[in-house]
Amino acid sequence: MSTKEAQEKIVANVRKWKKIENAAVASTARVIEKTENPIVRLVMEIIGRDSQMHHRIQELIEDSLTTKAIAISPEEVGEVWGLIEKHLEIEKQTVALAKSCLQEIEGKKGMLVQAYLLEYLLKDEEKHDTILEKLIEVKKGMYPYG
Ligand SMILES: [Fe+2]
Ligand SMILES: [Fe+2]
Repeated sequence: MSTKEAQEKIVANVRKWKKIENAAVASTARVIEKTENPIVRLVMEIIGRDSQMHHRIQELIEDSLTTKAIAISPEEVGEVWGLIEKHLEIEKQTVALAKSCLQEIEGKKGMLVQAYLLEYLLKDEEKHDTILEKLIEVKKGMYPYG
């Protein structure tokens, strides 16, 4: 497949995907309306917000392949780069705290919900860490794709 064909396929996919994210947001709202359970509400709210963000990301991918080229050049991000590297330190602290909490819980009874929520947080904080580490690679032009 040529690059152009691959791009057209990706654009078609993300257009479909955006509609599915909208359906996901509506679905989470329906669940939230029908329950007072704080854990179910929280989880559905997380998924709803994530789905809104996914939609934005898909839109940026779509735009980048159709209307406006995007890149992350040293000239464009030079000013904030120091702040981004500092931010990475914050994320590493949050990962360490989540791990410390989970270690405390290990082997204890009656803390299933807390373990569930802390595991979610750990994954999410690791995701923040990873997305920034990879951003640094993208800026260096070292990312394994494209
Ligand atoms: Fe999604
Ligand atoms: Fe974070």
